[in-house]
Amino acid sequence: MSERDTILADLERLRGSFRARFDAANTEQALRDENARILGKKGELTAILALMGKVAPIDRKLIGEQVNGLKRDVEKAFEDSLGALARAKRRAELEAPPFDLTLPGREPAPRGHAHPISIVRDEIVSIFEALGFAVFDGPEIDTAANNFDKLGFPADHPATDMHDTFYVRGHADLVLRTHTSNIQVRAMASQKPPMAFIAPGPCYRVDNDLTHSPMFHQVEAFLVDERVSLAHLKGVLAEFAERFYGKGTPIRLRPSYFPFVEPGAEVDVGCVFCKGFGCAVCKHSGWLEVLGCGMIHPVVFEACGIDAEKWTGFALGMGIERQAMLRYRVPNLGLLFENDPRFLEQFG
Ligand code: PHE
Repeated sequence: MSERDTILADLERLRGSFRARFDAANTEQALRDENARILGKKGELTAILALMGKVAPIDRKLIGEQVNGLKRDVEKAFEDSLGALARAKRRAELEAPPFDLTLPGREPAPRGHAHPISIVRDEIVSIFEALGFAVFDGPEIDTAANNFDKLGFPADHPATDMHDTFYVRGHADLVLRTHTSNIQVRAMASQKPPMAFIAPGPCYRVDNDLTHSPMFHQVEAFLVDERVSLAHLKGVLAEFAERFYGKGTPIRLRPSYFPFVEPGAEVDVGCVFCKGFGCAVCKHSGWLEVLGCGMIHPVVFEACGIDAEKWTGFALGMGIERQAMLRYRVPNLGLLFENDPRFLEQFG
């Protein structure tokens, strides 16, 4: 056989088989390999092309056209097969179930819960809400006037000292509120009596030891109306003690001093640990101090533009950490702030 006929026979064989070979490849890699065996550097068609030099010049045109025609056909068939494989793959993906129904379920993310301070705060707030008080919110940074002056603190009162109070640098008139009593001023300056509000929130004092933290929480409750008396205050306190510390919890008022109340008192509840018999927690007194209170001082009313002849009222303020420690028998204030999960998980 002449070179020409050998080449034509080779071309013929390739032409008759390449489609079947591509069809037989059922992965993209197999298809590419097959393509390389035909068109690659050492491929069959490349080998045929290398023989062209040996072909008589008169036959070159014919054979050249055939080789080029076959090359185009192979290239086209390769692209078509590639596309068909991709479509088949996509179809299989779409037809497969979207997820494996037989897989075991995933563990749900563990659920958190409120911090004990928040739990106690919410409970105190809801007791007062049930008694008719509404929540009044206010800023943690307030003017010294709202935190001290309008509450009747004299300008040189030791509480206003830098050793006790955080001032905002560069703003001698701004403090981190030292108690929630600033809310009394804000409510009375913006609302007309009668009013009954409860105001929970963080407070700050320059204090840091076993029983004090520079940031702590208070709840303020106050009520302004006509003919409000100490009896109303005592009634609310007795009701709160029963609802928060348990039925039958007794209270007692001891005279005390706060610049913004007159008369003022500290309130004790019967020791929740020993029921009044005397124990280490109540230092064998049978009583636990839980809050400060009193009848709102006329100077506060006047500073807030309320007629002190017409209106009277009472106010009380308590530390939330203290209530939480008594309620949950937490021996150390630090535990409430360390956020050790082994401690916090007990309140879930
Ligand atoms: N503001 C007082 C304190 O921080 C508590 C208090 C509130 C006392 C309202 C009397 C009336 O100690």
